[in-house]
Amino acid sequence: MNIAVIGATGVVGRECLTLLDSGLVPGVDRVVPVASGGSAGRDLGAELGLNLKVEPVVALEEFDPSTVDVAVFSAGAPISTAYGPIVAAAGALVVDNSSAFRMDDDVPLVVPQVNPQALATRPARGIVANPNCSTIQLVRALHPLRDIGEIDRVIVSSYQSASGGGLRGLEQLADTTRGLLDGADPADTTAGRFGPPLAFNLIPEIGLRDDDGHSHEERKLRREPRKIMDLPGLRVAATAVRVAVINGHSEAVHVTFTAPVRPEDARGALRAAPDLRVYGDPEPAGSPADAYPMPRFVCSSPTERRLVHVGRVRSDPDDPHALWMWVVADNLTVGAALNALQIVALAAGMPWWR
Ligand SMILES: NC(=O)c1ccc[n+]([C@@H]2O[C@H](COP(=O)([O-])OP(=O)(O)OC[C@H]3O[C@@H](n4cnc5c(N)ncnc54)[C@H](OP(=O)(O)O)[C@@H]3O)[C@@H](O)[C@H]2O)c1
Repeated sequence: MNIAVIGATGVVGRECLTLLDSGLVPGVDRVVPVASGGSAGRDLGAELGLNLKVEPVVALEEFDPSTVDVAVFSAGAPISTAYGPIVAAAGALVVDNSSAFRMDDDVPLVVPQVNPQALATRPARGIVANPNCSTIQLVRALHPLRDIGEIDRVIVSSYQSASGGGLRGLEQLADTTRGLLDGADPADTTAGRFGPPLAFNLIPEIGLRDDDGHSHEERKLRREPRKIMDLPGLRVAATAVRVAVINGHSEAVHVTFTAPVRPEDARGALRAAPDLRVYGDPEPAGSPADAYPMPRFVCSSPTERRLVHVGRVRSDPDDPHALWMWVVADNLTVGAALNALQIVALAAGMPWWR
């Protein structure tokens, strides 16, 4: 299989290359990294210390899509909108990490552990959408709970890291943190990648707000789970918050079912789900990192970075139909590159794959 990574120099693109290096997708023959003209010629294999043979970076304008079987796009929605259909028309399967096509009826929105059946036939437009990072970990934790009851309503608050804002987001967190520690004015509101400075701060708005006051990220958290889980009437309310964490998104999730549920049954269903780690019950002795999931610890282990972590599963004291849980995952792997490449591996195993 010949695979192009569009946006290969970005945080998600680099994660794709690292995961390809680990052999996540079997049978890869050629890896073509693509970015802007300014990055052309860079040797990402050497920069990232990969064993995988990665060709020098190609400028998007110079990229010949007819030479690849798959193109994973991670260069932002405008690039996907402009080039995704062209690359698909040349015969490559496009797996798109942006929001450009997610809600299009003729584009499957896929989380392989939740709705693999969406790829039972080749996507009509040759495009598969990868969901939003905060959606992926949410549906990965919600889907197993359907074994214990019918989900009626979800209320989620997300705590999203700086890497969700790409390389510029990481730089902004580092620069503003250094500045404050060096004595910069904490009242300075100079706008950056996230609007207000993120260092030692929480910003309760991610993306543009609509007329009703909901942010773009909150709209994604509402609409995408409905499509992926095939629950068009699911009630979802979200508050998305950017937090001063380098990497790893966290979510406080309140789930209401149509009948009473027990936390121990929920934990059992979650434990049976693939690539999902459940914390607590019994409370483990030893490291605090084993008591409940935290983004810093989850993201500092190559193994844990590939899992969805669920802790603090507990009842709602005022509602026997409802549960609380705390869900953490690495937004660059689980929330982006890993899901995209698992889509590629799923597609490559389908009868329609050439
Ligand atoms: N970060 C996350 O947690 C996350 C999660 C899920 C989905 N996503 C999505 O993934 C995409 C990439 O995000 P990111 O966080 O990786 O961003 P990033 O770190 O800012 O990287 C952006 C990438 O796009 C390339 N690019 C920008 N303008 C280009 C152009 N005109 N032509 C060709 N390439 C261009 C950049 O290449 P140069 O280096 O050459 O400029 C770079 O490789 C976005 O659509 C984002 O919404 C991100």
